[in-house]
Amino acid sequence: MKNTIDNYKKKIRLAKLGGGKERIHAQHKKGKLTARERLEILLDDNSFNEIGMLVEGKNFYESKKENKILGDGVVTGYGTINGYRVLVYSQDFTVYGGSLGEEHANKICKILDMAIKNKIPVIGINDSGGARIQEGVASLGGYAEVFQRNVLASGVIPQISAILGPCAGGAVYSPAMTDFIFMSQGSSYMFVTGPEVVKTVTHEQVSTEALGGAETHTKKSGVADFSFENEITVLTQIRRLIDFLPESNTSGHKVKQFNNTLTNSRPQLNTLIPNDKNKAYDIKELIFNIADELDFLEVQKDYANNIVIGFIRIEGYTVGVIANQPLALAGCLDINSSRKGARFVRFCDCFDIPLVTLVDVPGFLPGTDQEFNGIIKHGAKLLFAYAEATVPKITVITRKAYGGAYDVMSSKHLRGDINYAWPTAEIAVMGAEGAAKIIYRNKDEKILQDKIVEYDKKFSNPYIAAARGYVDEIILPSETREKIVSSLRVLRNKNLKNPWKKHDNIPL
Ligand code: HXC
Repeated sequence: MKNTIDNYKKKIRLAKLGGGKERIHAQHKKGKLTARERLEILLDDNSFNEIGMLVEGKNFYESKKENKILGDGVVTGYGTINGYRVLVYSQDFTVYGGSLGEEHANKICKILDMAIKNKIPVIGINDSGGARIQEGVASLGGYAEVFQRNVLASGVIPQISAILGPCAGGAVYSPAMTDFIFMSQGSSYMFVTGPEVVKTVTHEQVSTEALGGAETHTKKSGVADFSFENEITVLTQIRRLIDFLPESNTSGHKVKQFNNTLTNSRPQLNTLIPNDKNKAYDIKELIFNIADELDFLEVQKDYANNIVIGFIRIEGYTVGVIANQPLALAGCLDINSSRKGARFVRFCDCFDIPLVTLVDVPGFLPGTDQEFNGIIKHGAKLLFAYAEATVPKITVITRKAYGGAYDVMSSKHLRGDINYAWPTAEIAVMGAEGAAKIIYRNKDEKILQDKIVEYDKKFSNPYIAAARGYVDEIILPSETREKIVSSLRVLRNKNLKNPWKKHDNIPL
């Protein structure tokens, strides 16, 4: 009996060593944690249960049985984050560079299958040299098996990817199909083809970091949603995100305790809009003032800054916020902000998270760059996303709501449930100056100036929209949080269904 138990303990010890002490040391020297150390930070203390620790990889070059590395380069299992269940996999770079072989892929697939069946979020930690060269097409097949499950899980359970090392070639497509990608600065990268191939094909010289590092993907490409200075912050911020998200599309909401002794009135908002209509202000001030305990988790904060997206809680319930940001491009909608907003609206709709939309939008960004690159189709994504969403939708127009952008930003006509406007709102086809210049194009300057003043008085207000019922209520800025609190209470059991279809055909 003692021998048997000692034997078992030896095997477990060996499996936990992964690629061995030297490779663990090399991993630490690069400033990286091991697969298991990462899970320790990610999960609640002592909550991790490992599955498949003793799985053996295909014996491709280690001919002697005793040289085999157990676990095949990925640590998989389940645990909790703040008491909520999660399934996890964490690639072990110390084992064949975390490369994906057949059994490695099978282990990830088992986790994804469990996640779908049991409706539990999945977090994947990626640190891998890609397809395991020695296993050839079997590893390509393994990737595709993972991709297929990512797609089946999409919209059923939240899927989160952390990129904490290399992620190249087709391997990038599994994270790309998950809901949120986190990257660590200076130690992670994602690209379809690396700098060497780029140099050969396009003669461009580019570093790994510039081609696919955290800064590139959070600022330029928008592929990643979050980047943080080190792995520990990445993992603790994933814990924070999980706290906001439901377990699945049918699990119902998480409700967090909040300090309800604070008053909901926010008098400071009455001076948020500058007297000069063309002056910018920071829409995040409003977001913080709506949120429970000023807690706002901003998503894609460095990409397409003209729209702000993220999660807050209102009376403990998670809410998705989408807001035009007057500080960037005057809050215009363009290609990138439309894509950013659309994907976020669809995520919230999948998971029954109500939407609060804050509107200050002068329109779509004009220009050949936008037109040639398809603003029509990309802008339509945001329109489509709002129009198909059936979750509670609350809209607050703070200032400008002009033209097509008025329609797009969760207007009444797209089934907005409760649409508020501040007295400073200007809901019109366009600003007074633009309008007068079109109608009185050939008139002299004096007439034009008079018409601008007249149009400003006549159209730049919320009262015409309110008279038609397009705005349900005109509210003081200071009342915004209390109004949203009460409207979300009314809408809590909203039940709206779109006509049956196999799936829609969103403009891609
Ligand atoms: C097998 C691999 C491997 C791989 C790395 N290793 N990548 N083993 N298959 N794909 C092994 C190395 O042999 C080494 O083993 C250990 O992992 C660590 O690798 P190093 O090169 O020493 O580490 P480092 O210098 O940090 O470089 C990491 C790296 C580099 C940048 C990832 O290893 C690399 O370029 N690897 C190849 C990447 C690649 O081209 N993969 C295929 C991509 S195509 P020892 O025993 O010495 O510790 C692809 C297609 C997917 O993935 C398609 C899906 C549809």
